[in-house]
Amino acid sequence: MKKYENKNHQIYQGDAVEVLRSKINDASIDLIFVDPPYNIGKNFSNFKDRWPSDLAYAEWAHTWIDECVRVLKPSGTMYLMTSTQAMPYFDLYIRDRLAVLSRIVWSYDSSGVQAKKYYGSMYEPILHCVKDSKSYTFNADDILVEAKTGSKRNLIDYRGDVPKPYNTRKVPGNVWDYPRVRYRMFEYEEHPSQKPQALLDRIIRASSNEGDIVLDPFSGTFTTAAVAMGLNRKTISIESQEEYIKIGLRRVLELEEHQGEKLAKPQKTTQIKNGRGIKVKDLTGDLFSVNP
Ligand SMILES: C[S@@+](CC[C@H](N)C(=O)[O-])C[C@H]1O[C@@H](n2cnc3c(N)ncnc32)[C@H](O)[C@@H]1O
Repeated sequence: MKKYENKNHQIYQGDAVEVLRSKINDASIDLIFVDPPYNIGKNFSNFKDRWPSDLAYAEWAHTWIDECVRVLKPSGTMYLMTSTQAMPYFDLYIRDRLAVLSRIVWSYDSSGVQAKKYYGSMYEPILHCVKDSKSYTFNADDILVEAKTGSKRNLIDYRGDVPKPYNTRKVPGNVWDYPRVRYRMFEYEEHPSQKPQALLDRIIRASSNEGDIVLDPFSGTFTTAAVAMGLNRKTISIESQEEYIKIGLRRVLELEEHQGEKLAKPQKTTQIKNGRGIKVKDLTGDLFSVNP
């Protein structure tokens, strides 16, 4: 196990359960976002995301769910993702330990697999849970979205003593539309399961305050910590794979080099060819000509 840190941010390279058990104190964390391997056969660098059975996967998950519950403050919140097929196992286990406030659907615009004989998956489920349903952080005003009834249709609410226009802003419902992170997007990192910054932005704004500690036990591209850092939260991140740790060192600890290797954002480019030659657009959106 290795640890990298600065004043407000800690990164552990190691196994999530081992780090949680040995390094994170009881009731010390305000917000946990957990996006584990889904048991669907993805390759995460040197780690293959496949357990012998659904039950074996669920039993493994129970070990870190127990740890997350232990380290969560009494006022704390946990958001938990997994595949649609595994979520029932998680849900049944968690509802005996935490209060599940919302079952969120992260809905996106296209299925990764173009299914022909069944309905392709266009969403991923997220559980929103708290330790104490009578006392938890929920900054509703920080995540308001447009309420179409009030803002577009301009309807009047006649239900009270005095008629009044409907609100133009509201707390989002439990279906969240965010595009998946694609290769050409500015936030893209080299990882097979990167979550959008916008999704983490809503979660962190709603369920934590400035100065709070946000924990992500399966950090991947470290989007949780990068977004939390921008919102003045402290972070603890755990990730087993060296390849992704380097993303965290760059995005969160803002290091430019690690063990002699330059830490750089992927330099993906788009080529635009026309009669006047070839132009290339890089990740910053800058367009420049290249000589043929
Ligand atoms: C679904 S991805 C997380 C993606 C992340 N939320 C993001 O937005 O980039 C799961 C991550 O868990 C890591 N991982 C797998 N087993 C682990 C373990 N036992 N302990 C810590 N990390 C692990 C994988 O390398 C992978 O990066």
